[in-house]
Amino acid sequence: MALLEIKTAGDPVLKKVCAPVEKIDKRLRKLLDDMAETMYASDGVGIAAPQVGESIRAVVVDVDRKERKNRYDLVNPVITFREGSVVDNEGCLSCPDLFGDVERAAKIRVEYTSRFGKKKTLEAEGLLARCIQHELDHLDGRLFIDIAKNITKGKKERK
Ligand code: NI
Repeated sequence: MALLEIKTAGDPVLKKVCAPVEKIDKRLRKLLDDMAETMYASDGVGIAAPQVGESIRAVVVDVDRKERKNRYDLVNPVITFREGSVVDNEGCLSCPDLFGDVERAAKIRVEYTSRFGKKKTLEAEGLLARCIQHELDHLDGRLFIDIAKNITKGKKERK
């Protein structure tokens, strides 16, 4: 696995709507593994392909990153159900040291393709639901700082 360069706010790749993944192959799995490695190395809980310069609809999340055992690789993910609303503080690997309050659905259902091409459904709440919504925004060229309130600068946990 390799560490990838994380693109930061201002890079045009972060503003683009990403293309669907067409081919589930070794190359994609290597990218997902490298994204995961990069996320863990940066103490993040989620990373989207455009953050490493690949404008395709793929994200990796792991809200238990210290244990590294709740990793999800989501290819072509679509949120098909949302319920409730929660405001909480977020950060982003592409916006170093910025934090802000973002309103997100409390519970979601997401349909996606696995790294081996299987159709899957995941129901999530809490931090996992927040993290998935944040990463899926990246796939549509949206950063949390575009929608956050009370943005502050400082060192805290990032995702
Ligand atoms: Ni982010």
